[in-house]
Amino acid sequence: MNHKIKSLKDYIFEYQKSVDQPESFWSKIAESFEWQKPWDQVLSWDFEGPEVRWFENAKLNITENIFERHLNAHGDKAAIIWEPNNVNEKGLHITYKELFERTCKFSNALEAQGVKKGDRIIIYMPMIPEAAVAMLACARIGAVHSVVFAGFSSSALADRINDCQAKMVLTSDGNFRGPKNIPVKAVVDEALEKTTSVEKVIVCQRTSAEIQMKSGRDLWWHDAIEGQSINHKAATMDAEDLLFILYTSGSTGKPKGVVHTTAGYMVFSQYSFMNVFQYEQNDIYWCTADIGWITGHSYIIYGPLLSGATTLMFEGVPTYPHAGRFWEIIDKYNVNQFYTAPTAIRALQAHGLEPLEPYSLDSLKVIGSVGEPINEEAWHWYHDHIGKGNCPLVDTWWQTETGGIMISPLAGITPNKPAHASLPLPGIQPVIVDTEGNELVGNNVEGNLCIKFPWPSIIRTTYGDHKRCKDTYFSTYPGMYFTGDGVKRDHDGYLRILGRVDDVMNVSGHRMGTAEVENAINEHPKVIESAVVGFPHEIKGQGIYAYVICDMVGESEEKLNREIIDTVRKIIGPIAKPDQVQIVSGLPKTRSGKIMRRILRKVASKDISNLGDISTLLNPEVVDEIINGANI
Ligand code: WTA
Repeated sequence: MNHKIKSLKDYIFEYQKSVDQPESFWSKIAESFEWQKPWDQVLSWDFEGPEVRWFENAKLNITENIFERHLNAHGDKAAIIWEPNNVNEKGLHITYKELFERTCKFSNALEAQGVKKGDRIIIYMPMIPEAAVAMLACARIGAVHSVVFAGFSSSALADRINDCQAKMVLTSDGNFRGPKNIPVKAVVDEALEKTTSVEKVIVCQRTSAEIQMKSGRDLWWHDAIEGQSINHKAATMDAEDLLFILYTSGSTGKPKGVVHTTAGYMVFSQYSFMNVFQYEQNDIYWCTADIGWITGHSYIIYGPLLSGATTLMFEGVPTYPHAGRFWEIIDKYNVNQFYTAPTAIRALQAHGLEPLEPYSLDSLKVIGSVGEPINEEAWHWYHDHIGKGNCPLVDTWWQTETGGIMISPLAGITPNKPAHASLPLPGIQPVIVDTEGNELVGNNVEGNLCIKFPWPSIIRTTYGDHKRCKDTYFSTYPGMYFTGDGVKRDHDGYLRILGRVDDVMNVSGHRMGTAEVENAINEHPKVIESAVVGFPHEIKGQGIYAYVICDMVGESEEKLNREIIDTVRKIIGPIAKPDQVQIVSGLPKTRSGKIMRRILRKVASKDISNLGDISTLLNPEVVDEIINGANI
């Protein structure tokens, strides 16, 4: 079980072993898990296909590795500590034994409602323990979960339901988030008007908001589990059977369903959790992500629970009811490892040091960052004021597609270097390439980040469209997985992630495709064309800037601005709302009709000193107009 790296020397040794003999390296780690049948072959792969198979023909169930494997040793240990949004409501300590019983009960309930192995189930729920139970019960019976962040709009939800042809939706009546009481079931109802595959909806009662229940389709969670047994025999899954689909944004088209399979994901999420955070058996670990994102999957649920850890789950937001809420929770539960996003750090940093004063934060041993590049100022603030200068800070780089942390310091082992994700985990072989695909070796080089060898939790396909997976990740640089990120290797050989090199923005740590926001804007009847770019934003990392050509007849700019923002909120959700909308009469285009985004990015960043060559533009005159209208 342990396979825990304990020193830098260990790390160097293990890393080398993982490159020289990847199969024996991973099979040793995998042997500590519980398998119903062992594998015939550790790995077969071909990045051309792409086709990657880990632990071929092995049989297992990931929940047996969370529950049955550990229950004797620590059935009474807290698996999940749940902190509600409302400070006056009592939190919950759910032991492994209790979580197991809840998972079994709900597994039986799902089967009673006709769910079978391989069916897709959408989970659209707030951060409540039942959301974890929902994921684990799907895994237990072999249904494929697809968690959709509960802040997405009904049309974004409908797109995801349709794409994976989900049979069931698991949801709640409402969601307590900060001072708000957000309707959840109503969004599901609206989404289901645009879908046909869903047969049943199970609704967990959380806010007791008034909702509609459609007879024959909708049933309450508490009724569904009524009388169900607390035992359940786990389904037998093949190593490569689908565990989950998670939708994420890319540079083109609609979000795609990233597919993760059972065994490889299990092994890597556990191994990476244990090693990056250096979790010790009685520690309390807290990741502030939402289960709607990959960080919530791998590092609130699977990685920690597979390690027998105590994972804290928080329903609320960092600033409610006050800007010290995170720090209050850390002291309340004596949190040892704390993992959050740079956006949250910057937002809390903006409140100054006063909200920190009542709290000691003495329990903290490790602090972590994820989701976007962390700027040096935020790194130092986090390190000095939260980690009190003596907690290692793990800046973890990874992606929905990688399933687990790829490049990161190991806490207390890898020397810390501000704003550097640092070194690859064992088993991860990053390479830096130039635009032609030549590998840039040595130190002091900068280029695009690729990975040249498979790791156990690599994306297997994009659901229902394998060609898209190949085109997006395996075609830019044949023979390698292309991440979409730029990276620099410094003079010490440490890696620093520079951000996306494609048309994907990173807004408050959320991935958002420019094309996706454009498509939403274009739904407004008065919009003729739009172009969206990211720009540096003090708190969010990147903000969204939209240039829009509209039919202005009978319209005011102010009204259109408001309506355009509202259209995006309705079509995607509040997280995709543009920060700036600028109505323009034209967009700078090349003679072949391509929008010159470079210029739009510069104007949005208020950096017009060097716009480069604009003489090749079809319509150079719009550049001045755009600059004049941008209030620079
Ligand atoms: C960015 C989140 C810099 C990166 C786990 C990546 C980061 C995208 C870091 C994936 C980091 C994530 N430093 N950039 N430590 N972590 N990113 O799929 O651009 O939501 O490609 O996965 O976030 O976002 P995703």
